[in-house]
Amino acid sequence: MRFIRIVALLPLAGLFIHCNSSKLSNPPEQQFRIGASTVGIQSVATHLNVPWQIAWGPDQQIWYTEQSGNISKVNPENGKTKRLLTVPDVFRDRTSGLLGMTLHPDMKAHPYVFINYTGYSKEKNKVSKVVRYTYNELKDTLLNPVVFLEYPAWSSHFGSRIVIAPDGMVMISTGDGAQDGNAQNIKSPNGKVLRYNLEGKIPVDNPVKGNAVWAWGLRNPQGLVYANGKLYCSDHGDATDDEVNLIRKGANYGWPFIEGFVDTEKEKPFAKDAIVIAPLRSWTPTIAPAGMAYYSSDKIPELKGSLLLTTLKGNSLHSLTLNTTGTGITKELNYFEKTFGRLRSVCVSPAGDVYVATSNRDWNPNAAPAKNDDRIIRIYRLDAKHANPTAKSAVIVHKSTAVLNKGALLYTNYCASCHKEDGKGIENAFPALLKSPVVAGDKNQLMHTVLNGKNAMPKFSFIEDNDLAVLLSYVRKQFGPGADAVSAADIKSAKK
Ligand code: HEC
Repeated sequence: MRFIRIVALLPLAGLFIHCNSSKLSNPPEQQFRIGASTVGIQSVATHLNVPWQIAWGPDQQIWYTEQSGNISKVNPENGKTKRLLTVPDVFRDRTSGLLGMTLHPDMKAHPYVFINYTGYSKEKNKVSKVVRYTYNELKDTLLNPVVFLEYPAWSSHFGSRIVIAPDGMVMISTGDGAQDGNAQNIKSPNGKVLRYNLEGKIPVDNPVKGNAVWAWGLRNPQGLVYANGKLYCSDHGDATDDEVNLIRKGANYGWPFIEGFVDTEKEKPFAKDAIVIAPLRSWTPTIAPAGMAYYSSDKIPELKGSLLLTTLKGNSLHSLTLNTTGTGITKELNYFEKTFGRLRSVCVSPAGDVYVATSNRDWNPNAAPAKNDDRIIRIYRLDAKHANPTAKSAVIVHKSTAVLNKGALLYTNYCASCHKEDGKGIENAFPALLKSPVVAGDKNQLMHTVLNGKNAMPKFSFIEDNDLAVLLSYVRKQFGPGADAVSAADIKSAKK
């Protein structure tokens, strides 16, 4: 009886959602200034579980993947969501699961949706997969999976994004699986940009005959986008040098021999032997760059002609303005820093609204996620009538950073993404520094760990001696109370 009543109410509930929709005319949750434009912020979907990819669909809805294996869509006008498919064999742990997705730009002619995820082979081995589904409009679901590629899953650095090139080919960025040999091995699909046709065959004009590899030397590329016919890719560095690259046919991006630009003695010999393309931009301290989109609309003129890049560690949305040839970045601005938390994916609607997806429920959160995380958020221009003239700039200067002492700042930049601001780490992934005997004990052991790295901990020998001394003194004071300071002379002798 009760069940029947709920069912009877459902159409009404739908109506209710529709009438009280997050329509553009409704007041935004927040307002910010981007240059002379005022933008509103609205949550169009909430309570998601790590939306990994958002993509604008031909039905004016946002299609999205969740890392756990769901493909859904949300109507941004009324917040109504619809599950299209639960991919049956998704294996999710920290960074694996259902990741990148793209919709064919001409779904009428080619009703294809491409996804990359970690699942199982026929033999029940764990593998990463690139799969094409066909969208059935009548049933409003995805059917007929065709596996383009199965490749080793490893245990981290999964990438991955998929885009359709202007020539109709399928471009896929893959992670190196945290195996240093992969990215430079032309026979491995890991650490690459791959290229297939719509049927999953290798095009005859790929750089190496019979090989899907289009470009190589990548580490963990989580952003891929075309702008004016050129392909751009974001890539996670290790302890340093996150990158945005312009991807060229047959080019090598250097990982693991070259990080960022060729700027150390160690990198020079490899650069001499191999044709390595420098990034357009690299970031140290790292920002954990993820999804990318291109903004070509006139709606928010300040963003026009720029690559939009979401960051996880950076908790922000960068706009990277391209030069007229698309071969360089002329201006960079960093928006919404620490406003929505970690940002994984971005897309732009034909009307020029920007949508971002948060990633605050993933394996490596900043802090406890907000109740309504994860969200898909609309950033849209307000007309003069609705704009608050006192809205604050979306380029946010955090006062607390300015007054932090240098040690705390270095810790935030280089260590907190894993060990966390409070030094408590993440269980089973990053050990707590708080009360760690390595931190508070013999400083040689601490310096050795930080200079040389250990397993998933990168080495930090690139940090200048004085800075590292300040950083480690801060760590010892903060997390190992009572431990004495580390001097630059200590670091110098530990390096010997
Ligand atoms: C990319 C993540 C990452 C970053 C960034 C990172 N660490 Fe670590 N750290 C780890 C991991 C993983 C371990 C555990 C290594 C092992 O024992 O296998 C570790 C271990 C340690 C330990 C040993 C703790 C113990 O009790 O065993 C210390 C000390 C430490 N890190 C300090 C630092 C400092 C200082 C920084 C910044 C300069 C830093 N780490 C940056 C991942 C990271």
